[in-house]
Order: sequence, then structure tokens, then C-alpha cells
Amino acid sequence: MTSTGAAQRLQEDLLELATYSQGGPGTSRRLFSTAYRDSREWVRRSMLDAGLTVDYDGAGNIVGVLEGANPNAGALMTGSHTDTVDGGGDFDGVVGVLGAIEVARQLREEGRRLAHDLVIVDFLGEESNDHGLTCLGSRAFVGDLTANDLERLDATGETLGERCRSNGLDPSTMLTAGRRFRRPRAYVELHIEQGPVLEERQSDIGVVTGIVGIQRLLATFTGRADHAGTTPMARRRDALVAAASAVLAVRQTGCDSHEQGVTTTSEIAGYTSGPNVVPQRTRLLAEMRSISPVWLSEAERRLTQEIIDLAATYGVHAELEWIADNEPRPMDTSIQRRIAGASEALGLTWEAIPSGATHDAVHLARKCPTAMVFVPSVGGRSHCPEESTATDDLVNGVDVLRETLVNLDSTSS
Ligand code: GLV
Ligand code: MN
Ligand code: MN
Repeated sequence: MTSTGAAQRLQEDLLELATYSQGGPGTSRRLFSTAYRDSREWVRRSMLDAGLTVDYDGAGNIVGVLEGANPNAGALMTGSHTDTVDGGGDFDGVVGVLGAIEVARQLREEGRRLAHDLVIVDFLGEESNDHGLTCLGSRAFVGDLTANDLERLDATGETLGERCRSNGLDPSTMLTAGRRFRRPRAYVELHIEQGPVLEERQSDIGVVTGIVGIQRLLATFTGRADHAGTTPMARRRDALVAAASAVLAVRQTGCDSHEQGVTTTSEIAGYTSGPNVVPQRTRLLAEMRSISPVWLSEAERRLTQEIIDLAATYGVHAELEWIADNEPRPMDTSIQRRIAGASEALGLTWEAIPSGATHDAVHLARKCPTAMVFVPSVGGRSHCPEESTATDDLVNGVDVLRETLVNLDSTSS
């Protein structure tokens, strides 16, 4: 396949997949939306057209297999996700699934039969869902989805398990989907960088060194409802003011981290009786990310105390619940070297970088040698409609993914 042919096919596939969206600005394919469900049928057909044997596993992952020559060799895995954030772009995750399908097409056209089965997975619901859980499908795929995960509530009080059931998935089957998992030879995921490093350093390829850990915070502030016109300022116990001071404390934790971590408050929900009542109760949602487990646990300890103390200065009680979404995870160094080697053999420049975004790879890495290939993001933008990657960079990413898989196929660890 010439790079022009690959570029054209990738562009056509990207455009076709982008037609499936819930509406509004950018592209929205949220977990369990009709647009997402329909788009995955298109993904399934694309895998079939590429010559793969395809089925949905018990956790709603689409699993395509290009059979290898040696039935005992096990699997070489690749893939990613095709759901998006609300109002997202057309490249996050999608590139890893469509790129993998393109690799399968090229291998078949070139008559290059691998010894290992090539297994391509479109993992269900990688983005954080209404229940605050990322990577639903890949967790289940490796057997790490827990009954507790399925008990998580959304804002309406529905559990994730109930939500799955009403969308055609059997929660008990999801919990046991990992039984099908046989330790593969390796998992390699192609993804857009979603940040500015590769573009700034004019590097073609990112060799991912590790994936950040994520600690999510749910803080509830309880003050006292009072008349907004008659209560003197010094007597108030304003839950919203306490939450506002916490937003700044969250930000400062990231700013003070010497680039070891980033921190974000994404939501404050107030329970107020109206503009003439001092807010009594407020809920805040935040997260911290770092490649360093030490920084994460230190920052969690300090920030917890700081938020409790700040709230107390406003006469407000703060209750904090931290949930580890995923721990930081280093990528396999032997596969990193192969990715770098494949890039050099193709005449491409590369850069070793950590990933500030989380990925399905973080869960696969708990079970088998895992690594990621990044391609540059235009302007470093992602999770927004402007998300984009130049077609030449997509083709480079597919080439590096293919050659890394071929290299893994022909050598032992
Ligand atoms: C997924 O894109 C994440 O990093 O949260
Ligand atoms: Mn992604
Ligand atoms: Mn994403």
C-alpha cells in the first residue's frame, strides 16, 4: 500500500465515523448513546471488510481477529476506543481503532501473515462516563471490573450496573468477561498525543514512557441556610464560598507541583434555595494526575487538610472522598525500544514522553507487556471540536504501529 492510498483510506474512514454524532458542537458519542451504538456497528463492519473475524465480548468490546499462522503463538493485541467526550473531536481513540484496521488491511494486501493472531479491540466506553468511571470495556476485558464499580451512581441515582443492563449488557457477564483473557504477547496502542510536546519539538512520533495515575475527589461542603439580606457577613456559613476557596486550592496544588502533576476542578453543584438564601450545601468534583505515585499521595494528603481547614474558616464542614481511577503505569521498555527502532527505520524522528491522558493501555499494562505510539496533535488541542492530527502524521503512526507489531511477531521478549 502506498502512503497516498493509506492516507486516503484513513481520511475516508475518519470522515465516515465522524458522521455518527449526537449533535451539538464537535463530535459526541457518549457511552450508551444511539450515535455511539450505531457507529460501533460501522466499526464492526469495517473490521469484517478488513478480513477479521469479529464479535462483541461479554463486556461490549468489539473484538476482531486476523488469524496468525501459529495457533499456539497467542495474540498480539492493538486497538483503542471510539466513544468521545461531549463536544469532542474525531481523533481521540478513533485513530487507534481505524489505524489498527488499516494495519490489518495492509498486512493482508502484502500477503504478510503473522505467526500470532492479531487481535484488534474497540474497547467500550473509555471516556469518563456519567458514573465517573473511565475505561469500562478495557477494565472488564482484563478482568479488573469490580462489583463496586457497577454500584457507582450517576446524578439520577441509577447504578452503572442498572444502566448497563438497560442497554443490553448483562452485569454478571461483564464481571466475568476477563475469563476469556489469555495473556497476550503484547498490547500496542496508537493514539494522538492530545498535548503540545511533539508539535513543539517537531517530532514525528511519541514513544510513551508511562501513563499518569488519576485521583478523583468528591467534596461535599455543608454550611447553613440563612437570609441573604439580614445575616451579617461574619456570621455566615456559606458552603459555596468554601467550595470556591477549594477550587483555588486545587489549582494551586498543580501550580506548585514543579510540573510533577496537574489538577482540575470540573464541577461545582450548589443546592441553594434561591438568590436570597445563603448556600447551605455544595458538591465539588476535582481530579489530580501525575506519573509519580509519591507526588499523588503527598498531594492528596496536603490538599485534604487544606480544604478542610479552609472550609472551617468559613464555618463550613467539608467531607472528602477520594477515588483512584487508575494508578500511574510505566510502559514496557522493550516495546518502547522497538517503537523507537521502527520509527528510525522509517526515517521518522521520535521523542520519549509520558502520557497525561489515561488510556485503555493503562489496564492492559497490568496484565501483559504494553506500550503506546503517539502522533502529534495540532496545537496540542484535544477533548474539543478543534482536535486534529495531520494526515501525514496519521500515516506515520500506522506505519510505526505495523512495523512494531511485525517486529514483536518475529522476536521473543
Ligand atoms: C481520557 O481521555 C482521559 O484522559 O481522561
Ligand atoms: Mn483516548
Ligand atoms: Mn479522551
